[in-house]
Amino acid sequence: MNTNRLSKTLAAALNAQMTKEAHASQIYLAYASWADNKGYGGIANFLFRHAEEERNHMMKILEYILKRGAEVKISAIPAPHENPASINSCFEKIFSHEVENTREVYKLVKMSLEEEDWATWNFMQWFVKEQIEEETLAKSLMDKMKIAGGEKVSSNALYSLDRDLEKTPDDARSALDVTAANP
Ligand code: FEO
Repeated sequence: MNTNRLSKTLAAALNAQMTKEAHASQIYLAYASWADNKGYGGIANFLFRHAEEERNHMMKILEYILKRGAEVKISAIPAPHENPASINSCFEKIFSHEVENTREVYKLVKMSLEEEDWATWNFMQWFVKEQIEEETLAKSLMDKMKIAGGEKVSSNALYSLDRDLEKTPDDARSALDVTAANP
């Protein structure tokens, strides 16, 4: 008896999104390592924590594919983009990446709607909400940077920003609570 409750198309799209979340995690890891190397330990700490959150997003999709009886395909994760040239550009890249990820999430919502797969549509609503938080978080980084002077930021302002981000909670707390065992 066939117990697979996902269409081939949706299973492939969910597997692809799972890899995109893993890719996002690698990007945050790369930027965090870059920031740490430049001496910005607070910013690095913030980005390392976010890399973990992206991994949780990946696991959430993986668990869903399994729950629906479809096959999980673990594939190669593309290399992260080049390191940013400045903290300002780092935050801009993060924002663009999150907007791009939102577009991918919307594609999955549209596909599940067209297939009338309401379980997947419902599952994807979590990601729609999560992306609002992710974009807000990335935008807040850019706002802080803008106030601090953007590309012309002084070392004093950068010092304060780095210290603040060390303690800044990740606003998207709901994702932090998600694990493979508790999706
Ligand atoms: Fe998994 Fe930053 O979105």
